[in-house]
Amino acid sequence: MNKTIEKIVSLCKRRGFIFQSSDIYGGFSAIYDYGPLGIELKNNISQLWWKDMTHVHENIVGLDSGILMHPKIWEASGHVGAFNDPLVDCKKCKSRYRADEFSEDYTSIDWQGIQCPNCGTTGSFTEPRQFNLMFKTHVGPVEETGTEAFLRPETAQGIYVNYQLVQGAMRMKIPFGIAQIGKAFRNEIIARNFIFRTREFEQMEMQYFVKPGTDDDILNQWKDKRLNFYLDKLDIEQNKLRYHEHGDSELAHYAKEAWDIEYDFPFGWSEIEGVHNRTDFDLSRHQEFSGKNLSYFDQPNNERYLPYIIETSAGLNRMLLTVLADAYWEDDENNRTVMRFHPRLAPIKAVICPLTKKDGLPEKAREVVDILKPHFKVIYDQQGSIGKRYYRQDEAGTPFGITVDHKSLEDNTITLRDRDSMKQDRISIDQLLTAIQDSI
Ligand code: GAP
Repeated sequence: MNKTIEKIVSLCKRRGFIFQSSDIYGGFSAIYDYGPLGIELKNNISQLWWKDMTHVHENIVGLDSGILMHPKIWEASGHVGAFNDPLVDCKKCKSRYRADEFSEDYTSIDWQGIQCPNCGTTGSFTEPRQFNLMFKTHVGPVEETGTEAFLRPETAQGIYVNYQLVQGAMRMKIPFGIAQIGKAFRNEIIARNFIFRTREFEQMEMQYFVKPGTDDDILNQWKDKRLNFYLDKLDIEQNKLRYHEHGDSELAHYAKEAWDIEYDFPFGWSEIEGVHNRTDFDLSRHQEFSGKNLSYFDQPNNERYLPYIIETSAGLNRMLLTVLADAYWEDDENNRTVMRFHPRLAPIKAVICPLTKKDGLPEKAREVVDILKPHFKVIYDQQGSIGKRYYRQDEAGTPFGITVDHKSLEDNTITLRDRDSMKQDRISIDQLLTAIQDSI
């Protein structure tokens, strides 16, 4: 099977997972819209993450902070000064590249000897210059310097500036965590590979506040937990996941140690989530810039300190792309394409099909819909042959096909088709809900 990103993009559009933004206007670069199946899948993934973080861990609580925040936050965090990508332009064809795509050590390259990949001219590149990735906007009716604000480039800062309020209100004791899901914005120079790198995206971040000195051990614990989430909850193939440690030239300005979880996408191994040791960098900077004491009082030990922070930072859209890429399967033997989502992730859990449109079969099928729909997303389909109806749902990743036929009217049974094996079992309608729930 030749799994390409183009085939996944095409299926996503055809089946209503993901559309290019502003399609009728010719599209809007590096922004995507999530269709009916895309939003179901995205919600299923983010809810699993939310549960795993804030329900399973009693010492992690949630937060939903604003996208726009006090502009000083971004000075303190270092984003105004250091959240830059190096940029080079070809003077001949005006193509623009990230300088570090040519070499990680781009400062020592002789740019006059480099050929433009687009027009082939050698020696046409400008020297690298730094480009800040934050989107600027203005707050209030007058556009002047004092009213400038930024769309947040990470959700993490909203957690840091609220950490004492959360800790006090919830009487949290170190170690404890704060989790947040929300939009982040980056004016990426090069956005590519579908939803992998976009200018508007969602992050799922958890900041874990720990006592300095315990940070190395706790980082290792979170590394294990986060990798297991991909295996146990998202059902991702193990040999397609790996950890990559950041070398000195890759480390972000705030990090002492950083690891990426990478997935083997059709376009190569790429980062889906970072696990970082941010030390007390952020809290000490906010303490300095705000003038507020942000230390934590450890009552049992009668000591005060600035906590260290272990961060787990995942992109929801990249996680979704991982799930899509991992599930994509061309079943050549049966001439069909199947999205082999785990039932707990599948946007639609079952399709209910009356064998024909008459003899009371639609009414009986509707009864089945009514039993299942309070529990999970199901759809009713009476259009086309049964084979066509099932193949449509195979592409949508629907794990169960339910057919209501004449025998159903006599003995209250249906056939239950398994998406992957295509095996069909006859079971009683009374057992149907439990059978599907068990698989989820
Ligand atoms: N708070 C730390 C932080 O933001 P990051 O490595 O810059 O760290 C974390 O981003 C995650 O956010 C990445 O692993 C990725 O999943 C996601 N992400 C970052 N930039 C993105 C972009 N332009 N488009 C989609 N997802 C992105």
